[in-house]
Amino acid sequence: MNTFKLNDNTTIPAIGFGVFMIPNNGETEKAVSTALKEGYRLIDTAAAYQNESDVGKAVRNSGIPREEIYITSKLWLQDFGYEAAKKAIDTSLKNLGLDYMDLYLLHQPYGDTAGAWKALEEAVRAGKIKSIGISNHTVKFMKKLIPQMEIMPVVNQMECNPFFQQKELREYLNQYGIRMEAWYPLGHANKKLLTDKQLVQIGKKYGKSVAQIILRWHLQEGIIALPKATSLEHIRENFNIFDFALDDEDMSIIRSMDTGKGTHNPDNMANAVTLGMYKIH
Ligand SMILES: NC(=O)c1ccc[n+]([C@@H]2O[C@H](COP(=O)([O-])OP(=O)(O)OC[C@H]3O[C@@H](n4cnc5c(N)ncnc54)[C@H](OP(=O)(O)O)[C@@H]3O)[C@@H](O)[C@H]2O)c1
Repeated sequence: MNTFKLNDNTTIPAIGFGVFMIPNNGETEKAVSTALKEGYRLIDTAAAYQNESDVGKAVRNSGIPREEIYITSKLWLQDFGYEAAKKAIDTSLKNLGLDYMDLYLLHQPYGDTAGAWKALEEAVRAGKIKSIGISNHTVKFMKKLIPQMEIMPVVNQMECNPFFQQKELREYLNQYGIRMEAWYPLGHANKKLLTDKQLVQIGKKYGKSVAQIILRWHLQEGIIALPKATSLEHIRENFNIFDFALDDEDMSIIRSMDTGKGTHNPDNMANAVTLGMYKIH
Protein backbone atom coordinates (compact mmCIF):
# COMPACT_ATOMS: atom_id res chain seq x y z
CA MET A 1 0.00 0.00 0.00
CA ASN A 2 1.40 3.40 -1.00
CA THR A 3 1.13 5.93 1.79
CA PHE A 4 1.78 9.64 2.32
CA LYS A 5 3.27 11.21 5.41
CA LEU A 6 1.16 13.87 7.16
CA ASN A 7 2.35 16.92 9.11
CA ASP A 8 1.57 15.25 12.48
CA ASN A 9 3.93 12.36 11.64
CA THR A 10 1.14 9.87 10.93
CA THR A 11 0.73 8.17 7.55
CA ILE A 12 -2.35 7.96 5.35
CA PRO A 13 -3.04 5.55 2.47
CA ALA A 14 -2.44 7.34 -0.84
CA ILE A 15 -5.83 6.35 -2.24
CA GLY A 16 -9.09 5.89 -0.40
CA PHE A 17 -12.64 4.76 -0.97
CA GLY A 18 -15.43 7.35 -0.73
CA VAL A 19 -18.97 6.38 0.27
CA PHE A 20 -20.90 9.60 -0.50
CA MET A 21 -24.46 8.84 -1.66
CA ILE A 22 -24.29 5.10 -0.95
CA PRO A 23 -27.31 4.18 1.21
CA ASN A 24 -26.97 2.86 4.77
CA ASN A 25 -29.17 -0.15 4.04
CA GLY A 26 -26.41 -2.70 3.64
CA GLU A 27 -25.22 -1.21 0.34
CA THR A 28 -22.47 0.81 2.02
CA GLU A 29 -21.48 -2.22 4.09
CA LYS A 30 -21.23 -4.29 0.90
CA ALA A 31 -19.26 -1.64 -1.00
CA VAL A 32 -16.82 -1.11 1.89
CA SER A 33 -16.37 -4.89 2.39
CA THR A 34 -15.59 -5.26 -1.31
CA ALA A 35 -13.19 -2.31 -1.23
CA LEU A 36 -11.36 -3.75 1.80
CA LYS A 37 -11.09 -7.16 0.07
CA GLU A 38 -9.65 -5.42 -3.00
CA GLY A 39 -6.93 -3.79 -0.88
CA TYR A 40 -8.28 -0.31 -0.01
CA ARG A 41 -7.39 0.69 3.55
CA LEU A 42 -8.78 4.25 3.70
CA ILE A 43 -12.55 4.71 3.94
CA ASP A 44 -14.01 8.22 3.70
CA THR A 45 -17.45 8.79 5.24
CA ALA A 46 -19.16 11.74 6.98
CA ALA A 47 -21.93 12.34 9.49
CA ALA A 48 -23.89 13.93 6.63
CA TYR A 49 -23.66 10.78 4.48
CA GLN A 50 -25.61 8.98 7.24
CA ASN A 51 -23.87 5.69 6.51
CA GLU A 52 -21.26 5.58 9.30
CA SER A 53 -22.94 2.53 10.87
CA ASP A 54 -22.64 0.49 7.64
CA VAL A 55 -18.98 1.55 7.36
CA GLY A 56 -18.35 0.43 10.95
CA LYS A 57 -20.02 -2.96 10.35
CA ALA A 58 -17.84 -3.62 7.31
CA VAL A 59 -14.69 -2.65 9.21
CA ARG A 60 -15.52 -4.74 12.29
CA ASN A 61 -16.45 -7.81 10.20
CA SER A 62 -13.49 -7.55 7.83
CA GLY A 63 -11.07 -9.62 9.90
CA ILE A 64 -8.47 -6.92 9.21
CA PRO A 65 -6.79 -5.49 12.35
CA ARG A 66 -8.30 -2.10 13.20
CA GLU A 67 -4.90 -0.36 13.10
CA GLU A 68 -4.48 -1.38 9.46
CA ILE A 69 -7.64 0.47 8.40
CA TYR A 70 -7.85 4.27 8.17
CA ILE A 71 -11.29 5.75 8.88
CA THR A 72 -12.25 9.33 8.09
CA SER A 73 -15.50 11.02 9.09
CA LYS A 74 -16.62 14.64 9.09
CA LEU A 75 -18.50 17.08 11.29
CA TRP A 76 -21.71 18.33 9.70
CA LEU A 77 -22.78 21.99 9.74
CA GLN A 78 -25.64 21.44 12.21
CA ASP A 79 -23.00 20.58 14.82
CA PHE A 80 -20.61 23.50 14.40
CA GLY A 81 -19.63 25.20 17.65
CA TYR A 82 -17.68 23.81 20.61
CA GLU A 83 -20.38 21.97 22.62
CA ALA A 84 -22.25 20.60 19.62
CA ALA A 85 -19.03 19.34 18.02
CA LYS A 86 -18.00 17.54 21.22
CA LYS A 87 -21.31 15.63 21.17
CA ALA A 88 -21.12 14.99 17.42
CA ILE A 89 -17.68 13.35 17.73
CA ASP A 90 -19.08 10.89 20.28
CA THR A 91 -22.09 10.25 18.03
CA SER A 92 -19.84 9.46 15.06
CA LEU A 93 -17.79 7.06 17.20
CA LYS A 94 -21.00 5.40 18.40
CA ASN A 95 -22.41 5.11 14.87
CA LEU A 96 -19.15 3.63 13.62
CA GLY A 97 -18.91 1.32 16.65
CA LEU A 98 -15.20 2.17 16.91
CA ASP A 99 -12.96 3.43 19.74
CA TYR A 100 -11.26 6.06 17.61
CA MET A 101 -11.31 7.68 14.18
CA ASP A 102 -8.09 8.11 12.23
CA LEU A 103 -9.14 11.43 10.75
CA TYR A 104 -12.02 13.80 11.42
CA LEU A 105 -12.70 16.86 9.28
CA LEU A 106 -14.68 20.07 9.46
CA HIS A 107 -16.93 19.32 6.47
CA GLN A 108 -17.27 22.95 5.34
CA PRO A 109 -16.55 26.34 6.89
CA TYR A 110 -19.72 27.41 8.72
CA GLY A 111 -20.77 29.36 11.81
CA ASP A 112 -18.53 28.84 14.84
CA THR A 113 -15.79 27.03 12.95
CA ALA A 114 -13.14 27.98 15.53
CA GLY A 115 -15.23 26.55 18.40
CA ALA A 116 -15.75 23.34 16.46
CA TRP A 117 -12.00 23.09 15.77
CA LYS A 118 -11.28 23.45 19.51
CA ALA A 119 -13.53 20.42 20.17
CA LEU A 120 -11.59 18.45 17.52
CA GLU A 121 -8.28 19.42 19.14
CA GLU A 122 -9.55 18.21 22.53
CA ALA A 123 -10.69 14.93 21.01
CA VAL A 124 -7.16 14.38 19.67
CA ARG A 125 -5.76 14.89 23.17
CA ALA A 126 -8.40 12.49 24.55
CA GLY A 127 -7.39 9.79 22.04
CA LYS A 128 -10.78 9.79 20.26
CA ILE A 129 -9.28 11.01 16.97
CA LYS A 130 -5.73 10.51 15.70
CA SER A 131 -5.58 13.38 13.17
CA ILE A 132 -7.78 16.35 12.31
CA GLY A 133 -8.29 18.29 9.14
CA ILE A 134 -10.56 20.54 7.13
CA SER A 135 -12.61 20.29 3.99
CA ASN A 136 -13.84 22.91 1.52
CA HIS A 137 -11.75 25.63 3.12
CA THR A 138 -10.43 28.07 0.54
CA VAL A 139 -7.47 30.39 1.24
CA LYS A 140 -9.98 33.06 2.32
CA PHE A 141 -11.38 30.83 5.11
CA MET A 142 -8.00 29.36 6.07
CA LYS A 143 -6.46 32.79 6.63
CA LYS A 144 -9.14 33.47 9.26
CA LEU A 145 -8.99 30.07 10.95
CA ILE A 146 -5.26 29.27 11.09
CA PRO A 147 -4.38 31.95 13.69
CA GLN A 148 -7.00 30.34 15.99
CA MET A 149 -5.63 26.81 15.68
CA GLU A 150 -3.32 25.05 18.13
CA ILE A 151 -3.09 21.93 15.96
CA MET A 152 -2.57 22.40 12.22
CA PRO A 153 -4.92 20.47 9.91
CA VAL A 154 -3.24 17.48 8.25
CA VAL A 155 -5.36 17.68 5.07
CA ASN A 156 -7.77 19.93 3.24
CA GLN A 157 -10.32 17.83 1.34
CA MET A 158 -11.43 19.73 -1.78
CA GLU A 159 -12.85 19.13 -5.22
CA CYS A 160 -9.78 18.34 -7.33
CA ASN A 161 -9.20 16.59 -10.65
CA PRO A 162 -7.36 17.38 -13.91
CA PHE A 163 -10.04 19.93 -14.92
CA PHE A 164 -9.89 21.67 -11.50
CA GLN A 165 -6.39 21.38 -10.08
CA GLN A 166 -6.59 23.93 -7.22
CA LYS A 167 -3.07 25.17 -7.97
CA GLU A 168 -3.25 28.38 -5.92
CA LEU A 169 -4.73 26.60 -2.89
CA ARG A 170 -2.15 23.80 -3.13
CA GLU A 171 0.68 26.35 -3.03
CA TYR A 172 -0.88 27.88 0.09
CA LEU A 173 -1.30 24.44 1.74
CA ASN A 174 2.37 23.63 1.06
CA GLN A 175 3.45 26.50 3.33
CA TYR A 176 1.84 24.64 6.26
CA GLY A 177 2.60 21.08 5.17
CA ILE A 178 -1.16 20.46 4.74
CA ARG A 179 -1.86 17.77 2.16
CA MET A 180 -4.53 18.08 -0.51
CA GLU A 181 -7.15 15.32 -0.49
CA ALA A 182 -9.37 15.14 -3.57
CA TRP A 183 -13.12 14.73 -3.68
CA TYR A 184 -14.69 14.22 -7.14
CA PRO A 185 -11.28 12.91 -8.32
CA LEU A 186 -13.08 11.45 -11.35
CA GLY A 187 -15.18 14.58 -11.78
CA HIS A 188 -18.21 12.75 -10.29
CA ALA A 189 -18.18 10.61 -13.47
CA ASN A 190 -17.95 13.71 -15.68
CA LYS A 191 -18.20 12.27 -19.20
CA LYS A 192 -16.15 15.08 -20.70
CA LEU A 193 -13.28 14.21 -18.35
CA LEU A 194 -13.57 10.42 -18.64
CA THR A 195 -13.59 10.56 -22.47
CA ASP A 196 -11.07 13.39 -22.89
CA LYS A 197 -9.02 12.70 -26.04
CA GLN A 198 -5.64 13.48 -24.48
CA LEU A 199 -6.37 11.25 -21.49
CA VAL A 200 -7.60 8.43 -23.76
CA GLN A 201 -4.34 8.74 -25.72
CA ILE A 202 -2.21 8.62 -22.56
CA GLY A 203 -4.24 5.63 -21.36
CA LYS A 204 -3.48 3.72 -24.57
CA LYS A 205 0.24 4.32 -24.08
CA TYR A 206 0.23 2.62 -20.64
CA GLY A 207 -2.57 0.10 -21.28
CA LYS A 208 -4.71 1.81 -18.61
CA SER A 209 -8.20 3.35 -18.48
CA VAL A 210 -8.76 7.12 -18.28
CA ALA A 211 -9.88 6.73 -14.63
CA GLN A 212 -6.59 4.97 -13.82
CA ILE A 213 -4.57 7.71 -15.55
CA ILE A 214 -6.42 10.39 -13.56
CA LEU A 215 -5.89 8.59 -10.24
CA ARG A 216 -2.23 7.97 -11.05
CA TRP A 217 -1.86 11.70 -11.78
CA HIS A 218 -3.24 12.47 -8.28
CA LEU A 219 -0.80 9.99 -6.73
CA GLN A 220 2.22 11.48 -8.50
CA GLU A 221 1.11 15.01 -7.53
CA GLY A 222 1.10 13.90 -3.87
CA ILE A 223 -2.71 14.23 -3.63
CA ILE A 224 -4.79 11.66 -1.73
CA ALA A 225 -7.66 10.66 -4.07
CA LEU A 226 -11.03 9.37 -2.87
CA PRO A 227 -12.79 7.76 -5.83
CA LYS A 228 -16.23 6.36 -5.15
CA ALA A 229 -17.48 3.32 -7.04
CA THR A 230 -20.26 0.83 -6.54
CA SER A 231 -19.44 -1.68 -9.27
CA LEU A 232 -16.77 -4.30 -8.55
CA GLU A 233 -15.19 -3.51 -11.91
CA HIS A 234 -14.67 0.16 -10.97
CA ILE A 235 -13.61 -0.60 -7.37
CA ARG A 236 -10.93 -2.97 -8.71
CA GLU A 237 -9.86 -0.75 -11.61
CA ASN A 238 -9.39 2.33 -9.42
CA PHE A 239 -7.03 0.51 -7.07
CA ASN A 240 -4.92 -0.95 -9.87
CA ILE A 241 -2.66 2.08 -10.37
CA PHE A 242 0.53 1.07 -8.61
CA ASP A 243 2.24 -0.88 -11.41
CA PHE A 244 3.05 2.00 -13.76
CA ALA A 245 4.23 5.62 -13.66
CA LEU A 246 3.30 8.57 -15.86
CA ASP A 247 6.39 10.14 -17.42
CA ASP A 248 7.18 13.86 -17.11
CA GLU A 249 5.70 14.67 -20.51
CA ASP A 250 2.35 13.08 -19.67
CA MET A 251 2.29 14.72 -16.24
CA SER A 252 2.77 18.12 -17.88
CA ILE A 253 0.06 17.41 -20.50
CA ILE A 254 -2.36 16.67 -17.65
CA ARG A 255 -1.18 19.74 -15.68
CA SER A 256 -2.07 21.88 -18.72
CA MET A 257 -5.70 20.63 -18.70
CA ASP A 258 -6.67 22.77 -15.69
CA THR A 259 -9.70 25.01 -16.34
CA GLY A 260 -9.55 26.59 -12.86
CA LYS A 261 -13.25 25.80 -12.40
CA GLY A 262 -15.08 23.01 -10.60
CA THR A 263 -18.71 22.02 -10.16
CA HIS A 264 -19.15 24.07 -6.96
CA ASN A 265 -18.10 27.56 -5.94
CA PRO A 266 -15.60 26.69 -3.20
CA ASP A 267 -16.08 30.04 -1.45
CA ASN A 268 -19.78 29.37 -1.09
CA MET A 269 -20.03 25.68 -0.22
CA ALA A 270 -21.97 26.09 2.99
CA ASN A 271 -25.23 27.92 2.47
CA ALA A 272 -28.88 27.47 3.29
CA VAL A 273 -29.23 24.89 0.51
CA THR A 274 -26.41 22.62 1.65
CA LEU A 275 -27.44 22.97 5.29
CA GLY A 276 -30.98 21.94 4.42
CA MET A 277 -29.85 19.01 2.26
CA TYR A 278 -28.74 16.88 5.20
CA LYS A 279 -30.66 17.10 8.46
CA ILE A 280 -28.82 14.63 10.65
CA HIS A 281 -30.80 15.17 13.84
N1 LIG B 1 -15.80 16.84 1.48
C1 LIG B 1 -16.78 17.03 0.62
O1 LIG B 1 -17.47 18.05 0.66
C2 LIG B 1 -17.05 15.99 -0.40
C3 LIG B 1 -17.94 16.27 -1.46
C4 LIG B 1 -18.16 15.28 -2.40
C5 LIG B 1 -17.52 14.06 -2.28
N2 LIG B 1 -16.65 13.79 -1.23
C6 LIG B 1 -15.90 12.49 -1.10
O2 LIG B 1 -15.31 12.17 -2.35
C7 LIG B 1 -15.76 10.87 -2.77
C8 LIG B 1 -15.83 10.81 -4.27
O3 LIG B 1 -16.81 11.66 -4.80
P1 LIG B 1 -17.86 11.16 -5.92
O4 LIG B 1 -18.27 9.81 -5.57
O5 LIG B 1 -19.01 12.02 -6.00
O6 LIG B 1 -17.01 11.38 -7.26
P2 LIG B 1 -16.02 10.49 -8.12
O7 LIG B 1 -15.29 9.46 -7.33
O8 LIG B 1 -15.25 11.49 -8.87
O9 LIG B 1 -17.02 9.79 -9.13
C9 LIG B 1 -17.81 8.67 -8.78
C10 LIG B 1 -18.58 8.25 -10.01
O10 LIG B 1 -17.65 7.77 -10.98
C11 LIG B 1 -17.98 6.45 -11.36
N3 LIG B 1 -16.74 5.69 -11.49
C12 LIG B 1 -15.97 5.22 -10.49
N4 LIG B 1 -14.90 4.57 -10.98
C13 LIG B 1 -14.99 4.64 -12.34
C14 LIG B 1 -14.19 4.16 -13.39
N5 LIG B 1 -13.09 3.45 -13.14
N6 LIG B 1 -14.58 4.40 -14.67
C15 LIG B 1 -15.71 5.11 -14.92
N7 LIG B 1 -16.52 5.59 -13.95
C16 LIG B 1 -16.16 5.37 -12.66
C17 LIG B 1 -18.86 5.89 -10.25
O11 LIG B 1 -19.71 4.92 -10.81
P3 LIG B 1 -20.21 3.57 -10.03
O12 LIG B 1 -20.65 4.00 -8.65
O13 LIG B 1 -21.30 3.09 -10.89
O14 LIG B 1 -19.08 2.58 -9.94
C18 LIG B 1 -19.57 7.15 -9.80
O15 LIG B 1 -20.68 7.44 -10.63
C19 LIG B 1 -17.11 10.72 -2.06
O16 LIG B 1 -17.56 9.41 -1.97
C20 LIG B 1 -16.81 11.33 -0.72
O17 LIG B 1 -16.15 10.40 0.12
C21 LIG B 1 -16.42 14.76 -0.31
